[in-house]
Order: sequence, then C-alpha cells, then structure tokens
Amino acid sequence: MPLCILVCFVLTTLIYGKPIRQIEEAPLRVFFRHIDLNANDELDAYELQHYFHDIEPDDKVPDLNQVIRTMKRTMKQVTNEHEQHFSISWQQFHGNFIELDSIADNNIPQQIHLSLLADGTWSSMVVIWILKGIGSEHQPSSFVRYGTASGSYIYTQAATNRTYDVGIGGWKGTIYEARMISLQPCQIYYYRVGNAKAWSDEYSFKTDCSNVSTRVFAVMGDMGTVIPAGHLVAKQITEDHRTTPFTSVVHVGDISYAGTGSSEEIAEVWDMWGRQVEPISSIVPYMTNVGNHEAYYNYTAYRNRFRMPGPESLGVDNFWFSFNTGPVHWISMSSQHDYSKDSVQYAWLVNDLIKATQNRTQQPFIIVVTHRPLLCSDESELEQHLPNSTLFKTVYSLFVKYQVQLIITGHMHVYERIFYDNTTLITNNTYTNVRSPVIVVQGTGGAFDNDKWIQPQPWWSKSRMIAYGYGRVTVSVDETQRRLHYEYLLEHDRSVYDQFSIVI
Ligand SMILES: *[C@@H]1O[C@H](CO)[C@@H](O)[C@H](O)[C@H]1NC(C)=O
Ligand SMILES: *[C@@H]1O[C@H](CO)[C@@H](O)[C@H](O)[C@H]1NC(C)=O
Ligand SMILES: *[C@@H]1O[C@H](CO)[C@@H](O)[C@H](O)[C@H]1NC(C)=O
Ligand SMILES: *[C@@H]1O[C@H](CO)[C@@H](O)[C@H](O)[C@H]1NC(C)=O
Ligand SMILES: *[C@@H]1O[C@H](CO)[C@@H](O)[C@H](O)[C@H]1NC(C)=O
Ligand SMILES: *[C@@H]1O[C@H](CO)[C@@H](O)[C@H](O)[C@H]1NC(C)=O
Ligand SMILES: *[C@@H]1O[C@H](CO)[C@@H](O)[C@H](O)[C@H]1NC(C)=O
Repeated sequence: MPLCILVCFVLTTLIYGKPIRQIEEAPLRVFFRHIDLNANDELDAYELQHYFHDIEPDDKVPDLNQVIRTMKRTMKQVTNEHEQHFSISWQQFHGNFIELDSIADNNIPQQIHLSLLADGTWSSMVVIWILKGIGSEHQPSSFVRYGTASGSYIYTQAATNRTYDVGIGGWKGTIYEARMISLQPCQIYYYRVGNAKAWSDEYSFKTDCSNVSTRVFAVMGDMGTVIPAGHLVAKQITEDHRTTPFTSVVHVGDISYAGTGSSEEIAEVWDMWGRQVEPISSIVPYMTNVGNHEAYYNYTAYRNRFRMPGPESLGVDNFWFSFNTGPVHWISMSSQHDYSKDSVQYAWLVNDLIKATQNRTQQPFIIVVTHRPLLCSDESELEQHLPNSTLFKTVYSLFVKYQVQLIITGHMHVYERIFYDNTTLITNNTYTNVRSPVIVVQGTGGAFDNDKWIQPQPWWSKSRMIAYGYGRVTVSVDETQRRLHYEYLLEHDRSVYDQFSIVI
C-alpha cells in the first residue's frame, strides 16, 4: 500500500508536475496536515507536543506524558500507547471527528448561532450562518423565516452578507446575518435560515419570561476544537441544556484556537468550531468576549463571525459591550485593548457601570467577563496575575466601587475561585452582602492544560483545580431571595468540583 501511494505520487508528479493543494480541502485534513510535520499521515507525541507549544509559546514545553494522557482521554481510540510509539493515524482522527468536517452540500446553511442585543427585552434576536465555498456570495438572496408554531413561518427577514479571506490557503465562504424582530416575551420561536436553493433544519429558542425567578447561564473560556478537548466540553454543555436549560452561553475569550502560534490562522478550524457548538448556539444566544487567540489578522475572524451588541450599548464592535438578561447586567470588557484610565474603553466602562447602578432594581446583579485574569495563582505568566499587575490595579477598585458581584475570566487553563478580601468572614461558601466581588478563572473549556500552581496557595485563592469543564451560574431573584449560585462542573464525571453562592 505505501509503495502504491509512493508510485502513484511519483507518476502523478511526473505527468502533471507539482501537485497543487486543493483550495477547498476538508477542514479536518488541513488541520491534521498542519500538525503532521513529517507528513507520514500519523500524529506522534512529539508532533503534538510541538503543536501545543507553538500555540502557547509563553508556556513551558509540555511534558510528553501529559500530551499522551490528554489525547488518550479525548479520542475514542489511539494506537501504541507508549511514548516512542504513540500515534494517531489519519483514519483514526477522521473517524473520531468526522461530524466536524465539511458537510456534503455547500448550499446548506451551517454554523448557525444566535446572539442577543442590548435591550434586555429579547424583542429581537440576531442569527448568523455560513455558506462555504467559492461562489457562496452569488447565491439567491437569503432569509430567516420564523414563527410561533413549528413548520409555520409567518415572518421573514432578509439577511445581509459579508466575507473575509485570511488564513493559510485563504477562506472561501460567506457569512449571513439576519435579525428576528418584534419577538414577544416568554414565547417559543421556530426558525429556518437559507434561500431558494436550500433551507436549514428547523431550530427553536424561547424568549425570556419576565415572570420566572430563575435563570441559568453556562460560562467558560479557552475552548478550541478537537486537539484536545473543546469538543468534549461543548458536548457537556449541550447535554446539560436538556436538563437545566440555559438562558445563554457566555464564552470568555479564546474561542476556536484556529491560530497556529505564528502570525497565521487555519481558517477551517473556525468552521470546525462553528459546527461543534451549533447544537447549542442555534437554540441559545451565544455571547462572547475577546481573547488573545482571536487577535490574528487584526481580529478579522472574530469581528466577522459574531455580532455582539457593541453599538447598542455604546461600546465598540464585538470588543466591549454590555447586555441584560433578566436580573443580570453583563459587561464584556476587552483585556486585549487599551483599558488604561485615559482610554476610550475605561471611559465607557465607568459610564456603563454608572448606568447599570441606576438600574439596580431591574438588574440587581452585575457580572463582568474579561479574558485575562485579574488574579490567578497559575505559575505561568504569574507576574501579570498578581495584585500589583496592571489589569488588577486599573479595574478592580472600579468593580468594588460599583458593587460588581462576580468577575469571570479565562486565559489560564484552570479553575480558580478568588476572594480578595480578608476582613469579611465567609461561611459555607456563601457570600452574603459582601463588599468585594468574587473572581473566577474558568479557562477550562478544552484547550490543552500545561499548568502548575504556585505554592503555597495565596491567601486570596479559595479553591483551585485543573480539569476540563464549565461554570453554571444560576441566578434566582424574587420577593424572597436574590441569589447567584455558581457551580464548576467537571467534564470527565459531570460532578460539581466547587460551588458558592452570592446573596444580596
Ligand atoms: C450579498 O450582499 C450584497 C450587498 O452587500 C448583495 O448585492 C447580494 O445580493 C447579497 N447576496 C446574497 C446572496 O444575499
Ligand atoms: C409566565 O407567563 C407565561 C405567559 O407569558 C405563562 O405561559 C407561564 O405559565 C407563566 N409562568 C409562571 C411561572 O407564572
Ligand atoms: C485593526 O482594526 C481596527 C478596527 O477594529 C482599525 O481601526 C485598525 O486601524 C486596524 N489596525 C490595523 C493595523 O490594520
Ligand atoms: C436601564 O434600563 C432601561 C429601561 O429598562 C434600559 O433601556 C437601559 O438599557 C438600561 N441600562 C443599562 C445600562 O442596562
Ligand atoms: C509584584 O509582586 C511580586 C511579589 O508579590 C513581586 O515579586 C514583583 O516584583 C511585583 N511587581 C511589581 C511590578 O511591582
Ligand atoms: C489582607 O489583605 C491585604 C490586601 O488587601 C494584604 O496586604 C494582607 O497581607 C492580607 N493579610 C493576610 C493576613 O493575609
Ligand atoms: C450550605 O450551602 C449549601 C449549598 O449552597 C446549602 O444547600 C446548605 O443549605 C448550606 N448550609 C447551611 C448550614 O447554610
């Protein structure tokens, strides 16, 4: 067999000259080839180690055993478990992750995801989808069709479209965006997107009910796709949604890990990620925050593939913005852009906090998300995550002043609960009417963990763990209570590792 491949290759080369790479090669294949440095159609532990180190060059070189352990957990089957012989063949890789690869028909909308605008009333919902391939912009006009009964779409809204073309080998596809408007509260809407050539399956979502007292959110950062574990955490969130439906998902930066570590991105990895989260992002608003892994080509993919309420909340683009969901005012701030005291972002942040403070009766809880940690006791990049660091010194006192209750960050691939206040006694993990925010690092969405804690544990670190999973935030507000309950749910056994409550 290898002989045949070699002979055929030589013959092809002799007859046709240098083989050219197909422009529309399947995403999984492009990704696999990028990691397979010696092009033998197998990923060995050294190649994976190289890849992990490339994308996180600030971390130390990962341990080979850690690489192997991680890949064994994330794939259904790998051959040759020993270090020198460890390998993942293309067939195994493809077999494991085929559902994230190209879909057969480029006319069918894919990577469908919803997002909320700022007004908190859910009277409109943004939907974005993608058509892959050359010529996707010459399709007939596209629409979202929606209504309150399955199969009966009495409303239609036209989509706008845009594209970009960056990444290794470029990217060929068109991004469509439409808005479902005049939505009624507490109502299930059914929708399809597409055009005269092809329509998507039917999806549905429920608008917020003003008369419910409890809402649940899923939060995490640092996901990625199949190398190693983003696909597992995405599945965990989708499965949990069936038993405890989420009001929205909030992704605290570092989304697809399409970047290769140098200045280039494999655009197809964004498509794999879009398909990976579609089972949840097509039925629940998927809100984002910008991380360092979105920075490629001046944030081109991040700016084009999402639509966050920057303009509606007087913020900027998908970079800094705020929105309300029930009793929660969410602020998504960028730790990738200037946040110094004389910056545009800082002025916006202060202004938004002042307005949110005036709305406390409607939104008693304020949650800030930002990719980089204010504090973290991971030894990597430690000097940026101590109380004397720039981010902490610039914004923490602001969050105390305006009584933000919870700050959620990512960036380090760990979980850590932090309370930077040693004058308040906390019992039973319940923060009742405290003056300081609880800070969580929840960078456990699936990106490779190559982390180690500093010892001893700093006084402000209350709980810490390195394992994949996400945070479930349950907010309950009625005449009898105003409570936020946070649970860190582990991916591997679905247990709760840490939990705490904030009561106001
Ligand atoms: C894409 O947008 C352009 C205008 O920006 C429009 O002319 C074209 O018809 C749109 N294509 C589709 C398929 O909607
Ligand atoms: C909330 O209101 C909706 C209609 O808007 C109703 O169907 C539902 O039963 C109400 N739920 C509760 C808990 O009162
Ligand atoms: C990057 O994009 C921003 C818009 O988000 C633009 O203002 C800026 O000039 C761009 N920078 C470069 C180097 O192209
Ligand atoms: C404050 O509440 C009003 C009315 O509900 C709303 O229009 C506005 O967007 C809210 N402001 C913020 C910052 O949430
Ligand atoms: C921050 O504090 C650490 C120890 O707490 C110290 O080693 C470091 O030099 C300090 N950095 C700055 C910029 O002051
Ligand atoms: C209490 O917190 C302050 C900072 O707010 C810190 O300087 C001090 O070392 C802490 N004390 C103890 C006993 O941990
Ligand atoms: C401690 O907290 C847990 C979960 O938050 C709660 O179920 C339990 O009732 C609390 N126990 C006491 C003694 O307050």
